[in-house]
Amino acid sequence: GKIIFGDQILDRSVVHIDLEDRGYQFGDGVYEVIRVYGGKLFTAKEHIERLFQSAKKIKMDISMTPERIEDLVAELVKENGVGFGSVYMQVTRGTAPRTHMFPKPDSQTTAVLTAYTNEVPRPERQLESGVDAITAEDIRWLRCDIKSLNLLPNVLAKQEATEAGCFEAILHRSGIVTEGSSSNAYLVRNGEVITHPADNFILNGITRQVLAKLCQENGIPFVEKAFGVVDLLQADEVFITSTTSEVMPIVKVDDKPIGAGKPGGVTRKLQTLFEAKIN
Ligand code: PDD
Repeated sequence: GKIIFGDQILDRSVVHIDLEDRGYQFGDGVYEVIRVYGGKLFTAKEHIERLFQSAKKIKMDISMTPERIEDLVAELVKENGVGFGSVYMQVTRGTAPRTHMFPKPDSQTTAVLTAYTNEVPRPERQLESGVDAITAEDIRWLRCDIKSLNLLPNVLAKQEATEAGCFEAILHRSGIVTEGSSSNAYLVRNGEVITHPADNFILNGITRQVLAKLCQENGIPFVEKAFGVVDLLQADEVFITSTTSEVMPIVKVDDKPIGAGKPGGVTRKLQTLFEAKIN
């Protein structure tokens, strides 16, 4: 298949990443995952805008316009004939002799954009039945608002969930729920959707922003406030959102059923509203 490397679309087989790419050595870069539904990119502008925000927060200059990136990504999806899938894209600070400090401005090192596509079906069965989660301590840094390539704590938490036979690890800092290892987390109580505020402790998910708007438009209270693991376990409903998981019901946390142990009414309503957006 084809991929994006820098400013070009090339055959995957001709592209090679240098050993001293700072993404490879330091995780010095940022990324995005964009969903493709029926050959069309979903909320691409929002994802690319967040990519630029993440880059700015790590003082990295992408040296391409958002419009150019969007065009390239759309072209890539077309050339690869993606139907239902995703685009993974990342930008690293480029290739330079390994030292922690940034490459000198005169070193000709520039940020490197790479992107490729995947064919991924919607997780229909799991969206229908709901999935299980564990809770795990959030051991990440204090800038989780940046979609950084450094995902080791997320990887470790997801692996713990997988080994427990669960779909996701819902993270907490000293008992306060932040988000999932690769998703945002919500509870429903008395008809209100409650989720952690979009501060430095979570990634402000694009799906989260779509959901907030859907709630507003449909008279469902969307409350951004911190809640505890205890509240999570006693909630009427729990769900997570992400680009790949959409609005995913959580029916068990740490082996304890949530509500009736099946997807709740508010979650179902939000799933229906979300589906109307992507069709
Ligand atoms: N993960 N929080 C974290 C830590 C995430 O990694 C993600 C997304 C989200 C949800 O963001 P969005 O709705 O914009 O996808 C929240 C992507 C899908 C991933 O790493 O694969």
